[in-house]
Amino acid sequence: MSPFRITRILPEDATDAALRADVRAGLTGSPRTLPPKWFYDARGSELFDQITELPEYYPTRAEREILAARAGAIAAASGAATLVELGSGSSEKTRYLLDALTGLRAYVPVDVSESALVGAGRAIAAERPGLDVHALIADFTGALELPDTPGPRLLAFLGGTIGNLLPAERAAFLASVRSALAPGDTLLLGTDLVKDEAELVRAYDDAAGVTAAFDKNVLSVVNRELGADFDLAAFEHVAVWDAEREWIEMRLRARTAQTVKIKELDLAVDFAAGEELRTEVSAKFREEGVRAELAAAGLTAVHWWTDPAGRFALSLSTPARPAQDA
Ligand SMILES: C[S@@+](CC[C@H](N)C(=O)[O-])C[C@H]1O[C@@H](n2cnc3c(N)ncnc32)[C@H](O)[C@@H]1O
Repeated sequence: MSPFRITRILPEDATDAALRADVRAGLTGSPRTLPPKWFYDARGSELFDQITELPEYYPTRAEREILAARAGAIAAASGAATLVELGSGSSEKTRYLLDALTGLRAYVPVDVSESALVGAGRAIAAERPGLDVHALIADFTGALELPDTPGPRLLAFLGGTIGNLLPAERAAFLASVRSALAPGDTLLLGTDLVKDEAELVRAYDDAAGVTAAFDKNVLSVVNRELGADFDLAAFEHVAVWDAEREWIEMRLRARTAQTVKIKELDLAVDFAAGEELRTEVSAKFREEGVRAELAAAGLTAVHWWTDPAGRFALSLSTPARPAQDA
């Protein structure tokens, strides 16, 4: 069996401090918001895995189709000895890359969900003798402190998770990815594409109510971690397409007027009937936009692949050459 290591980059108290700061700022601001990273305790990670299997949730299937068709080309273009994966979750689709990268020596999954990292990391280490699996419990929006593993590196960010960042956050994130890449390294980025509104809304509001349970899980996290008294039944899950900004918003709408107390923050929050709390933005992209955002961060998209139905895209980028001195 291969070695499996897990390193906590985020100290326990930093997570706690970040949750407190995010909940205070998000629930006292207008509109009320909570960042999506707090969905992912063990239950939230499990619910997300269930979402990926729903008939309405096309992104996982579409991205898997691209990986099945293009993993060989990705491996040949990257020649990676280390695969770093941000927001790796269950690492389920990653297996196409792990199989195709014949010279791979290290896999570094990075996620805020310790349960997801342990489950996926142990399984991959057991399946792949000789592969060094070094999981990092870390927030990918912070400085990317990667272990010293052999190059070149392929840094993968799948699942369309980049769409959960707001435009300014995306620019900062891509700049930080760019600075983590050495010459010869590559970035594999999954982006969900703009499409018919009804198909998009269905993907974020499934008939079985799994996405609703996932959405409300953030309230359970705040109840457990900060002694809040959110009544999950008093909130309704809604998914809304913002055509101007080209993103889906997941929101929790208060069914009645109510006051929620957050004991650990000594905070009481009044919700009017119908008032909404935004829990996730999921931006959808167009090819020109992705190329432009990559270019602004100093990255050049050298490949652009979509599934046959054109629902989802994977791009492979290299660090742009620095401008030559005059
Ligand atoms: C939408 S899921 C995608 C999972 C998987 N990559 C896939 O394609 O199915 C997002 C993943 O990113 C993780 N995540 C979300 N925000 C994060 C953050 N700020 N830092 C690190 N991981 C994060 C979640 O725990 C979750 O595993």
